[in-house]
Formats: sequence, structure tokens, C-alpha cells
Amino acid sequence: MSQLTVAKNKFTQLCENLNERDFEAFKGFLVDSLDLGCGHDHHHHHDEPTVDSAKTSKLDRIIDHLRSSVNVYAEAPEENIVYPKEGKFDGYTNKNTIHVDGFLYSDDVLPEFQQSGAIPTSYCKDCNSKNISDLNFISHSFSTQDLDYVFSKHVLGRYNLTDLTIMDVGSRLGAVLYYAHLFTSTKKLIGVEINPFFAKLQQTTLNKFKMQNRVQIINEDFLTLSQTINECDILIMHNVFEWFCSQEEHKNVWYKLKNQVLTKKGLKLLCCPPIGQSLSDAGIKDINIDDWVKVIPLTSDDSVQIDAERQSDFCLYEIK
Ligand SMILES: C[S@@+](CC[C@H](N)C(=O)[O-])C[C@H]1O[C@@H](n2cnc3c(N)ncnc32)[C@H](O)[C@@H]1O
Repeated sequence: MSQLTVAKNKFTQLCENLNERDFEAFKGFLVDSLDLGCGHDHHHHHDEPTVDSAKTSKLDRIIDHLRSSVNVYAEAPEENIVYPKEGKFDGYTNKNTIHVDGFLYSDDVLPEFQQSGAIPTSYCKDCNSKNISDLNFISHSFSTQDLDYVFSKHVLGRYNLTDLTIMDVGSRLGAVLYYAHLFTSTKKLIGVEINPFFAKLQQTTLNKFKMQNRVQIINEDFLTLSQTINECDILIMHNVFEWFCSQEEHKNVWYKLKNQVLTKKGLKLLCCPPIGQSLSDAGIKDINIDDWVKVIPLTSDDSVQIDAERQSDFCLYEIK
């Protein structure tokens, strides 16, 4: 290992051991001592690469920790994944589909794991033959590229998050929470996860990386949390129910969401996929979205890394 790498690693470790306030003070100290000339303000400057790279490297370490805490499919022990029978995933079965978590294995590292054989790419259609087919890939987490978009000025970064509370509904590995803690100033982050294995994993990860401040994990069914929802400004809903309950249950969930749970006027919902898609996948035809929510148009420019098709999976709403 080069002396430069050793120095970088030591520096990153040093930063990780500081709490949020001390980290801010240390940042000011660095700016002064290295004469970076941008004072003590908290605005983002191009000449602060060390701080941003320390955060990126911390996120990488969190990802490494999570990879070693779950199996390669990032499923909880005995987790019951339900294959949707309608919509985009029609025809996906446990034989022809592989769950590759987009947060743990983003597109830039996935080929490495596939080449090493850790993650398969095809399946045998009739055992022992060479008659093979490509597997379908599905992810149950946002990738870091998705999250860059979610928190960019085009989506949630348009709001001053310093005064806001964001809830990630079905927080699973905690991807949204770690990312938002590191790269945004969101006042409070709440992760709600029904699966006890994932709720515990998120809490131990937050503790290990000293990120408990500003983040609360709730191991409950989201549908029972009306009071907590009232304290929130923005809810992120990423495929919460589709793969985790039957179509009949999925149907009931959306009636309950509309009529009882998501009723706070002004509450913002960032949904992936859009609500219309979820309702159609659940086989619901009699909920008129326009009576319930107003769409807030998203924007885009060349800095967005995810393609237009992926961007169209996201929709921002405000409850009327
Ligand atoms: C597709 S994952 C979303 C992961 C995470 N939000 C992200 O974007 O990276 C959906 C999660 O919702 C959880 N879930 C399903 N039904 C739930 C409920 N009623 N209350 C809370 N969590 C639920 C599942 O266990 C699963 O971990």
C-alpha cells in the first residue's frame, strides 16, 4: 500500500470517529490550516474534495459491511418474496429470476462479482443441458445512482431539507438512510421496516458507523403508523408492497393507503414506481389519483446519471 493510500485511509478513519458537530468543527480547522480559502460556511465548494471523498468512502465501507452481513441475494433468512402475477414482472419466477441488490452491487461493480462466479447470470432451462437462458435481475434497493437522482435538485434536493423529516417506507438495508445522512442535511430520517432482520441490521449498521443521530428505525407495519406519518414532510415509497404480499393484499393496502393512511394534506410522496403503475399492478381501477394527489413535475439535465427510462419510474406527489 502506498504512503498516500495509508494517509487517505487514516484520514477517513479519523473523520469517522468524530460525531457530526466535531466533524463540522474539524472541517473548519482543515479549511483554515490547508488555506483552502472558503471560510467556515457550510456551502458546497469545489475545493472541498477531502470531505466529499471521506463521505463517499464511508458509504463504500457501509456497503462492504452490509455485503458481509447478508447472503449474496440480500434476503433476510426465510424471507417470503412473492412474485407479482401482473404488470412489468409478469413471467418472473423463482427459477428464472435473481435478486441482486442494486445498493450493494451497482452496475459498475456487478460485472466483477459475475465474472468471479459469486453472482450467476444464466440458468439451465432443462437440467444438465447447455440450453441456458439469461436470468431476470431485480433489485429491492435503490442504487447509489438512483439515490444521487432522488436527492438531486431535480427531485428532493429542490427543498430545504434542513427543516424536514423524511420517512423511508420499507427501509430494508437502509440505503436511503445512510445516503441521506451522509449527503444531505435532512433534519430527521425515519426508516420503517416490517422485517425484524432488516430493522436490526439497519440499527446495528447505524451504531457501528456512529450515525444514530438524525435517524430513527421503526420495526413496525407502516400501515399502523398514522401518527408518525403526521410528523413527516416527505415519504419515500419504493416498491414497498409489490414483492412482499399477495395481489389481494396489495389491493387492500392501496385502498387503506388512500382512505386512512396517506391523508395528511401537503404531505409529499416520492413513489417508485408511480402510483398509477402500482394501482394497475394491484388490479385497481376505481381509485382516481387526481382526487387524492397532485403531481409535482420532476426535471432533468445532463448531470443525471440514470437514463430517461429509469427516471420515468420516479414520481413526486403532494396530497391534496
Ligand atoms: C423494495 S424494498 C425498499 C428498500 C428501500 N426503501 C430502498 O429503496 O432501498 C421494500 C421493503 O418494504 C418492506 N415492507 C413491506 N411491507 C411493509 C409494511 N407494511 N411496513 C413496513 N415495511 C414493509 C419489505 O420488507 C422490504 O424490505
